[in-house]
Amino acid sequence: MRLTQTQLEQFDRDGYLLFPSLFTPEEMKKLADEVPRLYAMRRPENVREKGSDSVRTNFAAHMYSAPYARLARHPRMVEPVKQVFDEDVYMHQFKINGKMAFDGDVWQWHQDYGTWLNDDQMPEARAMNIAIFLDEVTEFNGPLMFIPGSHKLGVLEAGHDVSTTSYPLWTIDNDTIRKLVERGGLVAPKGPAGTMIMFHGCLVHASGSNLSPWNRVSVYLSLCAVSNHIRRFKRPGYIAHRDFTPIACLPDDCLLQDYPVDLPWKDGTPEEELKSMLKAA
Ligand code: SIN
Ligand code: MN
Repeated sequence: MRLTQTQLEQFDRDGYLLFPSLFTPEEMKKLADEVPRLYAMRRPENVREKGSDSVRTNFAAHMYSAPYARLARHPRMVEPVKQVFDEDVYMHQFKINGKMAFDGDVWQWHQDYGTWLNDDQMPEARAMNIAIFLDEVTEFNGPLMFIPGSHKLGVLEAGHDVSTTSYPLWTIDNDTIRKLVERGGLVAPKGPAGTMIMFHGCLVHASGSNLSPWNRVSVYLSLCAVSNHIRRFKRPGYIAHRDFTPIACLPDDCLLQDYPVDLPWKDGTPEEELKSMLKAA
């Protein structure tokens, strides 16, 4: 899949692109059917909501689940990112966010590149976020919200919030958000399962809680240009990956055909991936 000149200009202006129903319901079912098994696992990769057993986010499923290992190599997702960076990419982060019915908690206002820079020493914002909806996203189940154009402002000041939710995050204060919204407005891209969003590492985003009776499970992947790999291994390897091998894509039908894939963490997370190391290998 190649992005058109108009799409490239839109991405540059707004900081995101929406691809409604890029994947078919049949393709999404292969991924969605695997979620209960992954969320039931008692592994460090499952981070649960504060005060409940609902999974907030599951990390690195592509290392121990065949359908997700295939998604991680999907050309419909990888090729446009390579086109934007004009370079090979590797998987910096891979997560399946639950935002489960009634229980799904907020994601505070933040930019991802702030964390990648401060924690992982990623040199530039040459890593792209991808969201793929496994459930339909509506106004009711906690859609992702963006401040269009906010990616143009670079890295904004942020504070480390370790108490609001079960997952620590570098968040942006309300006064700054008010000013950014006055300038750029607010959007909440919605769509059926199979919809994909591509968004810039500096785009300011958040999502509200899910008080609806509908889950909002989405896969979030961050693909980094290989030359821009992280320089510090402060976070565990299952959160910020340490393998910078370029992604080799599978054929376009890889979610429907059982192409062989390696699952190196299927018997558990390697000891060294749990540890923080202050210097990259
Ligand atoms: C994220 O920003 O990483 C997640 C946001 C969401 O799941 O709504
Ligand atoms: Mn984010």
